[in-house]
Amino acid sequence: MTKIKFTFIGPIRQAVTLANLPLKGALRDEQLQVIQGAGILIKNQEIFKIGPYEDLYPEALTVDAEMVYLTEDFVALPGFVDCHTHLCFAGSRANDFAMRNAGKSYLEIAKSGGGIWDTVTQTRNASLEALVEGTVKRANRHLFEGVTTIEVKSGYGLSLSEEIKMLHAIKQANSETAADLIPTCLAAHICPKDFEGSAKEYLETISNELFPILKSENLSNRIDAFIEDSAFSPDDIADYFQKAKDLGLDITVHADQFHVGGSEVAVAFGAISADHLEASTEREIALLANSNTIAVALPGASMGLGVAFTPARKLLDAGGALAIASDWNPGSAPMGDLLMQAAVLGTYEKLSNAELLAGITCRAAAALGLSDRGSIAVGKLADIIFFLTSDYKDITYHQGKLKPEMVWKKGSCVWK
Ligand code: NIG
Ligand code: FE
Repeated sequence: MTKIKFTFIGPIRQAVTLANLPLKGALRDEQLQVIQGAGILIKNQEIFKIGPYEDLYPEALTVDAEMVYLTEDFVALPGFVDCHTHLCFAGSRANDFAMRNAGKSYLEIAKSGGGIWDTVTQTRNASLEALVEGTVKRANRHLFEGVTTIEVKSGYGLSLSEEIKMLHAIKQANSETAADLIPTCLAAHICPKDFEGSAKEYLETISNELFPILKSENLSNRIDAFIEDSAFSPDDIADYFQKAKDLGLDITVHADQFHVGGSEVAVAFGAISADHLEASTEREIALLANSNTIAVALPGASMGLGVAFTPARKLLDAGGALAIASDWNPGSAPMGDLLMQAAVLGTYEKLSNAELLAGITCRAAAALGLSDRGSIAVGKLADIIFFLTSDYKDITYHQGKLKPEMVWKKGSCVWK
């Protein structure tokens, strides 16, 4: 029998739990549960009790908990969840960045053979080991900045064997970092230039040959597709998504990045999330708000491309669920700083602290279908991050410059 281990952390100046918040709609800061002078009692990997430090202290002694006594002012938050990244890749696209700043658009660069295809070539040329190493390095950087759960997409392989290589790399990287990596199959990123056949035939090959392997090798239970003029049309993708659904795989969509169309498909197929949405109009906002599909804003892509932000305020005011993710990738979003990007989105879109923090914790966990994390509450994983400050509002106020001082993952301190 495994031994039960208790840990007691405190006193914590403010624990912002993010518990008991509605999944959808606008949030006011008053809705945040902020426990002043908190203690957190952890049992193995989970939160066992949270409440006033003085109240829990006697119980911590009774169960012989390891005491982690905090002598400075800390604010505790649930570990951040980044629900959309492409951080498994090889090479650089610094040239694309320079070309964009010289006036070429993302779609023009893609059409002239650069863009995503460039990273596909570099990723195919990389060994499994090199991909694992790069993925672990980026995941750890994220972890030390408070991101304890990271979705990671394939999509730079674009053939059966190369997509499998990427998903194996993500799986191996997951075992080499303390962060949890959640893999998503994005074989429908673009139609590969070297595929002899139509986009529909490519998708048919992938769904027939790769989907069963995803299941049998436990590589992913999430299917993503880029619906865009330069990638796949709603018509191309319909059968692909239907097959994914029939196999019980979750669907997520790169939707409405430059042109609308993707979010409508996402809602029609009951996708768990529709991500990007920079081009969404009132119509798409209403569709999403009236659905169970979570809208995911990717401010890092807007900043990387120099385009408008996702209409986050309108989505929330219409009653939608809004998560915020980094989209960390070598092309459109090379920065990969989730907190900084969320905070900047907040200034442009006028988001409350509660909306921003929910967007990178509980609402982001929901976008991944994970109910065991995203808040500091009894029974949730003890993924907790600590900022050296006495007021939680400082965290977004410093726009990402205030980094966590301590990161706990599944009940263990993994960074301080
Ligand atoms: O989410 N839009 C499509 N895919 C990625 C970009 C990938 C790349 O440029 O390498 C995105 O922005
Ligand atoms: Fe993306």
